[in-house]
Amino acid sequence: INYRIGLISFYLVFAHDKLKPSTNGSFCTESKECLEYELVCKTDEYEVRHYSPTRWVSTDAEAYFMGVGAAMAFRRLFQYITGSNEGGVQMEMTAPVLVKIPEQTRMWEPAVYTLNFPLPAAYQDKPPTPTNDKGCFSVQLYFTEMPEMDVYVRSYGGWMLSVTSRLHAHLLTKELERVRASYNCSYHYGVGYDSPLKLLNRHNEVWYVAEGEPVLEPNPTSPHPIPKVKLQPPTFHPQHFTCSNRS
Ligand SMILES: *[C@@H]1O[C@H](CO)[C@@H](O)[C@H](O)[C@H]1NC(C)=O
Ligand SMILES: *[C@@H]1O[C@H](CO)[C@@H](O)[C@H](O)[C@H]1NC(C)=O
Repeated sequence: INYRIGLISFYLVFAHDKLKPSTNGSFCTESKECLEYELVCKTDEYEVRHYSPTRWVSTDAEAYFMGVGAAMAFRRLFQYITGSNEGGVQMEMTAPVLVKIPEQTRMWEPAVYTLNFPLPAAYQDKPPTPTNDKGCFSVQLYFTEMPEMDVYVRSYGGWMLSVTSRLHAHLLTKELERVRASYNCSYHYGVGYDSPLKLLNRHNEVWYVAEGEPVLEPNPTSPHPIPKVKLQPPTFHPQHFTCSNRS
C-alpha cells in the first residue's frame, strides 16, 4: 500500500516567504508538521474536510473521565516520540492529537479512549518500534493506518475537556441531523492542536467521520464544480463551496 504523506513541513514553508503561515486563522502554530487536508465545503456551523491515508502511533487508556485517560495515554505517546523506541529516535511533536471518544459511555463503567499522534513525515513509512521505559517492546503502543476519509468538523477555542468536547460533539450532531448527513455515530474524535502551555487563541475540533459522499453544492459565484484545494498549511480556507442538504 502506498501511504501518501499528508504531512507538510513548516521548514519548507518558511523557505518561501510568500507561504509563511499567517497568524490569523492559522491554528497549527506550535508544530513543525501538521496534518494536511483538503477543504471540501464549509458552512457557518461546520466544515467538511478530506484527509489522505496516514499512519499514526496510538495507545488505549481505560478511564472514567476522558481527561484522566488522555493524560495517561499522552505520557506514553510522548515517551515514544522522545526516545522510548528502538534506536532511541527523537521525533518532533506533530499536530493534531486525536482522541477517539466512544459515543456511549456509562457513568459507572470506564470507557476506552484511544489517543493518536500523527507520525512525522520522515517516519510515516518506517516508524521505529516502540519500547517501554525498560527498553522492552511495548505492547501498549501500536500503529494505526488511518484510511482516506471525509470528516465533519466543528471548531472551538479554550481547553478540550470532557464537558466542552461533549457539548461541541452534541452541537455538531444536531446540525448534521438537521442537514441529514450520514456519519459514523458510534464515536467521534476530539482534536487538539495546542500544548497545555499555550493560553490564548487555543484551537480544538470535534470530528465525525462521514459515511458515503458528502453532498456538495457549488456556490453560484464559484466557477469550478469540483473543489480540489491543497491547503499548505491549513490556513487559507477557500470559501467557494457550501455544504448542501441531503434531501
Ligand atoms: C488579523 O485579525 C485582526 C482582527 O480580526 C485584523 O484586525 C487584522 O487585520 C488581521 N490581519 C491579517 C493579516 O489578516
Ligand atoms: C463505525 O465505527 C465503528 C468503530 O470504529 C466500527 O466498528 C463500525 O464498523 C463503523 N460503522 C460503519 C458503518 O462503518
